Amino acid sequence: MRSIIYPGSFDPITNGHLDIISRACKSFDRVIVALANNPNKQATFSAQKRLELLKVCTKDFKQVEIDSFEGLLVNYARSKNIQTVLRGLRAVSDFEYEFMMANMNRKIASDIETIFMMTNETNFYVSSKLVREVAQLGGDMSALVPKPVLDALAFDK
Ligand code: PNS
Repeated sequence: MRSIIYPGSFDPITNGHLDIISRACKSFDRVIVALANNPNKQATFSAQKRLELLKVCTKDFKQVEIDSFEGLLVNYARSKNIQTVLRGLRAVSDFEYEFMMANMNRKIASDIETIFMMTNETNFYVSSKLVREVAQLGGDMSALVPKPVLDALAFDK
């Protein structure tokens, strides 16, 4: 069985994340979408709410499991006996951060490989941070996030 972990903060999940998840489902039998729960990192949505949104937004993908973890991603991957981590790449600006993370992870756990998928051009500029900011200032995010997230953003205002 080909399995992969797609980790992230998902604060909140966007159409960009969903695009990566749906494409991963075409190549992998099991896609674990893993919420990194970092108690020291300030998030807009609680871990519980982010998990709830992940579950409802991915319910149609049979291969997807939603999970969360604390601590190092590579330790989580090992605990699941999965050697491959997936990250989405948008603009050039993502590259440096992703390159550093992938290399750091390889340094501390050479058995774990990171692979990247380019987001499609529709979602090239979509980030959770910008979605939160624009939504809080009254911008229409309906084309960029799934409906349950749109509702949660409206509630959060
Ligand atoms: O959606 P994000 O915030 O870009 O995701 C980043 C994430 C959660 C994948 C990364 O911060 C992570 O792996 N955190 C878990 C802790 C860890 O392993 N840190 C070392 C990374 S080199």
